[in-house]
Amino acid sequence: MTEDHPTHIDPSAEFRARARIRDRADYEARHQESLVDPEGFWRRELAGLLGDWQQVRTGELPHPRWFVGARLNVSERCLDRHLDTPLRHKAALIWEGEPEGPQGQVETRTLTYFELHREVVRFAGALAALGVGSGDRVIIYMGMVPEAIVAMLACVRLGAVHSVVFGGFAAEALSSRILDCGARAVITQDGAWRRGTVLAMKSVVDKALESAPVDHVVVLRRIGETLPVTMQSGRDLWWDDAVDLRDPTRGGAAVQVDGEHPLFILYTSGSTGKPKGVLHSCAGYLAGVYLTTREAFDLRPEDLLWCTADIGWITGHSYVVYGPLANGASILIYEGAPNAPDPGRFWRIIERHGVSILYTAPTAIRAFMRWGDQWPGKSDLASLRLLGSVGEPIGPEAWHWYHRTIGGGRCPIVDTWWQTETGSMMLTTLPGAVAAKPGSTGLPLFGVDVAVVRADGSDCAPDETGLLVVRRPWPSMLRTIYGNEERFIAGYFAPMPGFYFTGDSARIDADGYVTVLGRVDDVLNVAGHRIGTAEIEAAVGTHPAVAESAAVGRPDDLKGQALVVFVTLRMGQTADAGLREAIRAQVAHEVGKFARPDEIRFTDALPKTRSGKIMRRFLKEIAAGKATTGDTSTLEDLGVLAALRAGNAEE
Ligand code: WTA
Repeated sequence: MTEDHPTHIDPSAEFRARARIRDRADYEARHQESLVDPEGFWRRELAGLLGDWQQVRTGELPHPRWFVGARLNVSERCLDRHLDTPLRHKAALIWEGEPEGPQGQVETRTLTYFELHREVVRFAGALAALGVGSGDRVIIYMGMVPEAIVAMLACVRLGAVHSVVFGGFAAEALSSRILDCGARAVITQDGAWRRGTVLAMKSVVDKALESAPVDHVVVLRRIGETLPVTMQSGRDLWWDDAVDLRDPTRGGAAVQVDGEHPLFILYTSGSTGKPKGVLHSCAGYLAGVYLTTREAFDLRPEDLLWCTADIGWITGHSYVVYGPLANGASILIYEGAPNAPDPGRFWRIIERHGVSILYTAPTAIRAFMRWGDQWPGKSDLASLRLLGSVGEPIGPEAWHWYHRTIGGGRCPIVDTWWQTETGSMMLTTLPGAVAAKPGSTGLPLFGVDVAVVRADGSDCAPDETGLLVVRRPWPSMLRTIYGNEERFIAGYFAPMPGFYFTGDSARIDADGYVTVLGRVDDVLNVAGHRIGTAEIEAAVGTHPAVAESAAVGRPDDLKGQALVVFVTLRMGQTADAGLREAIRAQVAHEVGKFARPDEIRFTDALPKTRSGKIMRRFLKEIAAGKATTGDTSTLEDLGVLAALRAGNAEE
């Protein structure tokens, strides 16, 4: 920790005076109530969000049912419910496209709640005309355009289950997801703007569908003539034509479903095997994102919330789409890269639209730090009143830079810990209620009961590092892994009987603040992207020259972790720079460019236990340039370690 930085930052008196929750005692009382009287707590806090329900919960981990008796449609709860209120013509979303002229000319679109609702109803009608109905799975493979949100809400309106696949994924990764969830349709766009160039998307879909056919593809025209696309007749339809084909008398009615009806599947990386389809359900998820958006961001009616996450990730689902819209908030979405055309882009966006809450990731914050203070210095950031961070630990250096340079020292920072599986934020410091401690995430949110335990399940002492677990069900928890209940149990409930196992290590200080230290499994966090080592190894293994590989993370100033892959080659192959590039390209091809390894290291052998398990712990130390320490008693061939250390690191 840097000496001259305070370790405790209290909210300003001004912020506190207007905050929803103003002191720790109030937070404690409500948190306590949420655990001992969940029925009373949720009934009051949700105030009719879910309509009627009879019982707050039945069942325990791993299979609770929440808000028993609720019948609802999440799209209606996010849209229709606001139309009879003063929110009717309020901006639901403000969009800015990536291309920007030298005088700051940009393309922007604003959709009010009235307009967003109209678009969603129309597109739901289009999907219904194509035969999409309740329970059907639909893949959404799009960039950050308003129609991506329209598509999500239109699926939900029909009771269909969307699975958004991040637009950076390659055809292989897309087809495996289409197959895994048995999707009927894919919604995509011709291409998207990314860092000054056009990224083709429809052609990726075409390739994916060669091995994973679907009935229908709906294509939004974002780029137009300059990007020719092939349309397969009978299967592919332009978005506008699909909308024209709808039956205008139908499609508007939202399908009412049970609270436990599936809402969406989102694929994420696990420690073994292929990506897993995390399944969320309607009522519990909506309750979680609604409450956390309101409380963690201390939401006010006049806010403009910019969550910079792509809708392909859980953060985009929960804090671009469902949480804000359920609250009737205004959101900003931006199509492109933070440094397009230069590193001042984010700050111009904030000034141009008057963003008041910025929610982003430490990896982005570290990139901004590196690009220099002159960039934010060119824009007026006075509209900001609250900052948020998510995705990985935000170290004190980045925290203080964010606080001072972006927040002008006046904006509280909420560091929020949560996961694809938890659906909504689990830990943070409520901004008007308690002090922030840079480096530590903070306290449990409402309904959340976490602990840090030893391997035998007993509680750790204050400041003792252990495993982070959740001890009771919470509304927005995943319901299963789609089509793989076994993996759901094995991954989250078998490791620590009686608890939900997060896969993270952590410690709790005497004050109750939780510091999350990072993953204990084979999941990496590279520039905010969750990447499974097994997925990378599988991709590397598809290169014909590769015999075996092991992927590990190495600490990296910018990306949090960098991806290092140790590779052994088949006989007769030559380890050279060309092959290194070819292997990196292979990963980009199989998984996506964002997963391309930072470093490939060739080696004659990988360190293994006598039972043949790769000893990643040693590889991590070698990748980080540390001397290998610890127990080598199970290592099969000590010579392997010596050879690895002798250094065949990338030039
Ligand atoms: C890590 C992203 C420290 C953690 C919402 C978790 C964090 C994984 C934080 C989930 C944070 C997320 N501090 N670590 N504030 N937020 N993580 O599923 O290791 O993409 O298990 O969800 O990110 O990543 P996921």
